[in-house]
Amino acid sequence: MEQFDIVVAGSINMDLFFEINKLPALGETIEGQAFHLLQGGKGANQAIAAAKLGKKVAMIGCVGNAAFGDLALKNFETYKVNHKHVHRSEGYTGVAMVNIFQTKKRDNSIIIVPGANKKMTRAMIDQALPMILRAKIVLVQLEIPLDVVEYLIDLCYEHDIPVVLNPAPYQILSQSAIQKASFIIPNEIEVGQMFPNHSIELNCAQYPNKLIVTRGFMGAVYHNYREFKILNAIKVNPIDTTGAGDTFVAAFASKYIENKDIDAAIQYANVCAGLSITKVGAQESSPTSEEVNRYLSEHQDE
Ligand code: RIB
Repeated sequence: MEQFDIVVAGSINMDLFFEINKLPALGETIEGQAFHLLQGGKGANQAIAAAKLGKKVAMIGCVGNAAFGDLALKNFETYKVNHKHVHRSEGYTGVAMVNIFQTKKRDNSIIIVPGANKKMTRAMIDQALPMILRAKIVLVQLEIPLDVVEYLIDLCYEHDIPVVLNPAPYQILSQSAIQKASFIIPNEIEVGQMFPNHSIELNCAQYPNKLIVTRGFMGAVYHNYREFKILNAIKVNPIDTTGAGDTFVAAFASKYIENKDIDAAIQYANVCAGLSITKVGAQESSPTSEEVNRYLSEHQDE
């Protein structure tokens, strides 16, 4: 049986990007500046990002039975991501409305309608189990049913397969899932939702070598049992930050499985996520290993 570096279980969306100056008020119609129809979904973004970094990747997910589902499967083929365990269901593929604000920071806001992503079941995980058990690492996010996520984390824990949980968008997680995940990678908003009463420093100290918080232009932080570490982002001109978190998670996992060095994996993920925000889109923008190597060789002395 084929062996994969990374198995991703998660969402597959079609992203509708609107470049705008402001959100319309209720009852108002405004004109946007640009539109892009692109592949997305946190799960698919992470799978494609890891494949672009040269890893052998398989996806477990669910798409609808119409045109967006066909396009998603074709997209996996383009990037050589195995989609044997991507199921087709009645109804529509997940969609996301991504608003990119034409401000200096190029922030975004996203509305998702999960569609087929919500049809993922534990049985689909069971079917993919032989493949999961041969993976070097498993990635999962929260755009699929929570019981499926927790079931997968349980199975990985039981079989000693490292699993990275990207708790996005945040949902209340069981203590068991938090304990059993090998790594948890939220952004600042999600970590605040997970642990509302504590500072990021305290949260990281409570989950050393496990909780890694991404902080956009400020890089990422974690605690390594000895100290709280801040690993800086690279300096770039942002065009679109959509999917930067997904690129970070995929790049972290891709580097971590090479030599289990958490610091090195975060530094690599910071570079990949930084490069990803210099282009529009969640998948087109994630860098290839060649692009990352070129950046690293041009910035060796920094
Ligand atoms: O993380 C970015 C992704 O969030 C987008 O691609 C969108 O589909 C939503 O899932």
